[in-house]
Amino acid sequence: PSKIRLRHLQLAKEQGRPFSMLTAYDQFSAKVFEEAGIETLLVGDSVGSTVLGHESTTATTHQDMLTFTAAVARSVTRPLIVADLAFGTYQTGPRDAVLHGIDLIRAGAEAVKLEGGTEMVPQIRALVQAGIPVIGHLGFTPQSVNSLSGHRVQGRDEETAQRLREDALAIQEAGVSAIVLELVPAAVAREITAALTVPTIGIGAGPDCDGQVLVWQDMAGLSGFHGKFVKAFADLRGELERAAAQYRTEVAERAYPGPEHSFE
Ligand code: KIV
Ligand code: NA
Repeated sequence: PSKIRLRHLQLAKEQGRPFSMLTAYDQFSAKVFEEAGIETLLVGDSVGSTVLGHESTTATTHQDMLTFTAAVARSVTRPLIVADLAFGTYQTGPRDAVLHGIDLIRAGAEAVKLEGGTEMVPQIRALVQAGIPVIGHLGFTPQSVNSLSGHRVQGRDEETAQRLREDALAIQEAGVSAIVLELVPAAVAREITAALTVPTIGIGAGPDCDGQVLVWQDMAGLSGFHGKFVKAFADLRGELERAAAQYRTEVAERAYPGPEHSFE
């Protein structure tokens, strides 16, 4: 199957074929998801919490993003690779957004993602003018967790739902190639998806977005995070723990390594 590009996501929306995005941060996960046919990989700033042990994605640095983006880019050829602009690398203005966006593209990203609505229009325009495709991110935006007072569904009341619609149209007009909708009521996400010409990618945003995204360790049951919007499609945590415990037991009992694992 051929290389996935942004126009394939656009085509998928137009043809009503939902597509998948998963986060990926390292060689093996990225390769497995490529083998599984996942259309697009997100090197999310969630790497700060999922891999690096931070409380919040606000701790993820630009250097972290470059390291993990390069790892994923070296590992796969087919999926579209999207990388997050880290907190602090674009909120300060269009010039900073472009300079950091260029670094991510050099590291192997094919599009960058940033959080925010109307207030980010100058950054989005500048990136697009620099030849860097942008994916937007609306609803619950983790880099603003402190001003949003925690992980909460956004757009439940008519006023914030209206702001979401306006933000979606504003960043589409500014040139985004797609928009992630996070923790948004299904009805609001459906309406926004229908109103936009570019694809929406939902996480906790119901079944009617054009694509879906999950953090891979949640999808595979490794993180143990069971938010309402998460479905664990495997029990990697259980399986990995079972394997590690069995390894330990066999070492303790001298059952492993056996003659078949040993050199003459
Ligand atoms: O960083 C991330 O993993 C994300 C997705 C959850 C959309 O931004
Ligand atoms: Na992110």
